[in-house]
Amino acid sequence: MQPRSDWSNTAFLYDFDNRRYDDRIKFFKRYMERTSGNILDIACGTGRCTIPLAQNTSRKFVAFDFSENMLAVLRQKLIKHPIPNLFVHKADMKNFNFDDKFGYIMDTGFGHLLNDDEIHSYLSNVFHHMSDDALYILVVFNPSSDYGRSWIGVEKKSYEVYDDETNRRISRFTKNISSDTEKQIFTYLTRFEVTDEQGLTERFSDEVTVRYYYREQLENLLESTGFKLLEYYRSFSGDAAESGNDLFQIFVSTK
Ligand SMILES: C[S@@+](CC[C@H](N)C(=O)[O-])C[C@H]1O[C@@H](n2cnc3c(N)ncnc32)[C@H](O)[C@@H]1O
Repeated sequence: MQPRSDWSNTAFLYDFDNRRYDDRIKFFKRYMERTSGNILDIACGTGRCTIPLAQNTSRKFVAFDFSENMLAVLRQKLIKHPIPNLFVHKADMKNFNFDDKFGYIMDTGFGHLLNDDEIHSYLSNVFHHMSDDALYILVVFNPSSDYGRSWIGVEKKSYEVYDDETNRRISRFTKNISSDTEKQIFTYLTRFEVTDEQGLTERFSDEVTVRYYYREQLENLLESTGFKLLEYYRSFSGDAAESGNDLFQIFVSTK
């Protein structure tokens, strides 16, 4: 069975990722300001985008994720700084259902849906939740390798940070575990080492499975569901990037 990709063992370390998040938040905010009506944040995780965006609007803001542990981190932040227009739910992308229609939908979880039927019914469901003039922003991984055999087993250090609050050093590594190049699915291990002042190291890890897409494949999927594609980016800095080295692909669509 495929892992659930829910960061169940490492959610509490997720926000230590020190790679720039400002561009992502600015990008989502710029499009949020072009829309009206309710906002839906699909696969909100620990709320790294959710919180700064929801704080910047008085519109109803609904955020969901299926990971208990990611949501626990988000809810902890909201205890300290409540946001009255933000409604957080535990829900699964495979069968979420809200009574509201949304004018703006952000989706950073799509790559974790693996099965064709799930993917088709998910996109139809997103479409159904959109108001007539809504924008849907879909973020997926940008494939940058063939993920063949030579890719498996390679471990890389993603970052190392020092946490002043707890005086711990946190290092994150990723290791490629398996890939199915036909189905365009791969699994990697995300592994943390947390070292305290005495030099004692604790280790935490999760497996994450991602389905990757080439631009045309996802454009076809979106168009066959009824979406109209407006813009395509490969970076949150907002340049219509042409380079192939970017980590993400971003599709902006309407109904
Ligand atoms: C890459 S993280 C993004 C989190 C957050 N949006 C951010 O930008 O930091 C992907 C999120 O998708 C969630 N996820 C994966 N599969 C899901 C599903 N079937 N339903 C709901 N959430 C899911 C995971 O729990 C995780 O929080």
